[in-house]
Amino acid sequence: MSRIVLGVAGGIAAYKACELLRRLLGAGHDVTVVPTESALNFVGASTWAALSGKPVHTQVWDDVESVPHVKLGQQADLVMVAPATADLLARAATGRADDLLTNVLLTARAPVVFAPAMHTEMWTHPATQANVALLRQRGNVVVDPDSGRLTGADSGPGRLPEAAELFAIATAVLDDPSTAVRAAARDMAGLTVAVSAGGTREHLDPVRFLGNASSGLMGWALARAAVLRGARVRLLAANVAMPAPAATEVEQVISTADLGQAMGIAAKDSDIVVMAAALADFTPAQSSETKIKKRGGSGLTVDLVQTTDVLAGLAAARTDPAQVLVGFAAETPTAEHSLVELGTAKLHRKGCDLLVVNDVSGGNVFGRPDNEITLLDGDRVVGPLAGTKDSLAHAVWDAALDLRSRR
Ligand code: CTP
Repeated sequence: MSRIVLGVAGGIAAYKACELLRRLLGAGHDVTVVPTESALNFVGASTWAALSGKPVHTQVWDDVESVPHVKLGQQADLVMVAPATADLLARAATGRADDLLTNVLLTARAPVVFAPAMHTEMWTHPATQANVALLRQRGNVVVDPDSGRLTGADSGPGRLPEAAELFAIATAVLDDPSTAVRAAARDMAGLTVAVSAGGTREHLDPVRFLGNASSGLMGWALARAAVLRGARVRLLAANVAMPAPAATEVEQVISTADLGQAMGIAAKDSDIVVMAAALADFTPAQSSETKIKKRGGSGLTVDLVQTTDVLAGLAAARTDPAQVLVGFAAETPTAEHSLVELGTAKLHRKGCDLLVVNDVSGGNVFGRPDNEITLLDGDRVVGPLAGTKDSLAHAVWDAALDLRSRR
């Protein structure tokens, strides 16, 4: 259980903070909502009080005997402001203390995450961008807004990410506070990365397929981590049910062949490519365009042919020697072959630069929020590292950046 202050500034996206609040409370956190006065024009104090089970104040003059403007900030494990308006970012950047929320921001010593939401013109305005840069320079996390439909008919960057995504970011920062340090440092700014996620499906007919149990959680965590650190992220999603992490460019793919084609294009101008998707190694030799019917009791034999190895193909076609190619491998070590031996052999076979190896002999890792990985680059072995997929995602990017710097 962590103590969280959820700041809400006066934007239409304030309604999404209700859902975020419910998720944070559902995870067992102690959440105090601190709206700005103008936020109450969008969602009233009684809604916040009813949802959080706590009184709601916007000014430092309420409950003065308990000095809440100092206590709330000092005791918080995380302060998250969602939505953060242009005005709130400006007040935070200049160190104003003209309401309870800005006082909390000045007294907080825990990670502070701003999730801006506003019209595109306000977001891209040099004044807002300068405020964002200053806040990041001071160690705050400023989440890039999503692109899409804004209030009215407008569309563009400025949307508040969905509550599920904000919850994932809050959880990542609480579980591993170094996430906030990396996000504020923006050490992947200027880099373009491509990440494949999920599991491919090979269709036998329009309704049936051969697939696998990959949830896409690891690929999602990699995309989320890279966006937080400032990279441009292309996410090739193979049959993942979750909404995509905010501010990523998503392309949906189904089969290994689709993924190979899309990744071939994306990889051409990517600085780092991560193949986190679980790809089908076999596909039906023939797939029927119409539904395969039962045949009066007789069985069905399906011939399978091997798919192309996408990662090995990317390694062979690589033209940029500085590009870092990262593969994933789930292995079951034996008495004869250790995890590192199996991984190193695969690293060389595929021709990639870094292999993230998972020991799956203990059971299934699919769909779980945490994992244990070992990183191999042919020279070094890092790990095993245990943690949430979000925190391991940062370790994978750290290793990829380290490889780039050694080239
Ligand atoms: N991969 C790929 N193309 C395939 C199969 C796998 O690019 N047709 C990628 C995966 O995305 C992963 C890496 O290769 O990053 C290793 O996947 P894995 O299934 O362990 O490799 P295989 O070559 O299938 O090895 P094995 O013989 O152990 O199944």
